Amino acid sequence: MIRFGLLGFGAIGQLRAESLQQTPGATLSMICERDEKLLALATSKYSAKTTRNYDEMLACDDVDVVIVSTPPNLHRDHCEAAFAHNKHVLCEKPLATTNQDAKAIVEASEKANCVLGTGFNYRFYPAIAKIRELINAGEIGDIDHVRSFAGHPGGPEFTHPWVHKPEIMGGGALMDNGIHVIDLTLHFLGKPTDSMGMATDHTWAFGQSEDNGFLLMRNELGNVASVQASWTEWRGYQFNVEVYGTEGCVRASYPPMLCSVRKKPVGNAKRGRKKSYWFPTFQIKERLKSYRWTIVESFIAEQRDFMLRVGGGVGVGATGIDGLYAVEAARSAAHLECIKTP
Ligand SMILES: NC(=O)c1ccc[n+]([C@@H]2O[C@H](COP(=O)([O-])OP(=O)(O)OC[C@H]3O[C@@H](n4cnc5c(N)ncnc54)[C@H](O)[C@@H]3O)[C@@H](O)[C@H]2O)c1
Repeated sequence: MIRFGLLGFGAIGQLRAESLQQTPGATLSMICERDEKLLALATSKYSAKTTRNYDEMLACDDVDVVIVSTPPNLHRDHCEAAFAHNKHVLCEKPLATTNQDAKAIVEASEKANCVLGTGFNYRFYPAIAKIRELINAGEIGDIDHVRSFAGHPGGPEFTHPWVHKPEIMGGGALMDNGIHVIDLTLHFLGKPTDSMGMATDHTWAFGQSEDNGFLLMRNELGNVASVQASWTEWRGYQFNVEVYGTEGCVRASYPPMLCSVRKKPVGNAKRGRKKSYWFPTFQIKERLKSYRWTIVESFIAEQRDFMLRVGGGVGVGATGIDGLYAVEAARSAAHLECIKTP
């Protein structure tokens, strides 16, 4: 059994707790939450020990892994404190609000010789797992470029007032919903050698965080990727990732959970062969139980993958370095200088 401590029992921490109950080989040993009402809720729902003091949780011998589920501006302090107690850390996205803080977290994990993961749970959505499988099976040949999008309507969609505060989030749409698809894009593109971007803030006009961020990245082979992150996607929450190769392309999108592969035309054909994947279990369960069911499922898979890494194995989940690359890429466009006001 691997024993988990959960730091932060807010919106996401509560889903983490639910998913840890269902993760084979995992025990939820301790929950730390500074808000008294939330702490009482944790105590009433779970048999885990509870505390308001994270030093108490970090000093606890019954905790091997800490899930850091606090607001992003606290991640550096909380990760460094966990590593100082030789705990492995799975930290929610974004890893940090600045490049410097993200680097410091990675360095602290290396110094402590502890495993660091970044909570990019979309890697475990079945549509993403399917395009990974198709790419690895050679269905699209060699990767040429990646094109991704993540959007929601911004304002009314924010769960917390701090989501558009750069001092807490580190940026706007690119650091919020965008960071997930930046990670997915780099998951397929590989390490970026260049990234640059532009941004707009004319709709919500938060002043310091972009409504829309447009990012271009390139790897050392010259393959290119573009990402748009939006807080003005009036049709509602959605994301998609498209990977184009020399023999075809794959596309994953959500919601609903879908994936397709389209091959390059051969002979006299105008269009290449197409195959679609529907994931009926996800589509039905999500309708019955809400999108939270999908998140919990992805957390279970992500935690299993992280436990594999703690045991010395190699997983497909995002490492600390992946978290650092995503922050660096987002911040190359998600700052005021990139917003050109007329
Ligand atoms: N993976 C995803 O899809 C996803 C989605 C949304 C948010 N997130 C990320 O998850 C993290 C948490 O977001 P959230 O929406 O749950 O925020 P939240 O504000 O609902 O929860 C954070 C909790 O941390 C607690 N906290 C803060 N400092 C603490 C301390 N020192 N000791 C104990 N408790 C402390 C707060 O009281 C709060 O309850 C953020 O990094 C966010 O970006 C991830």
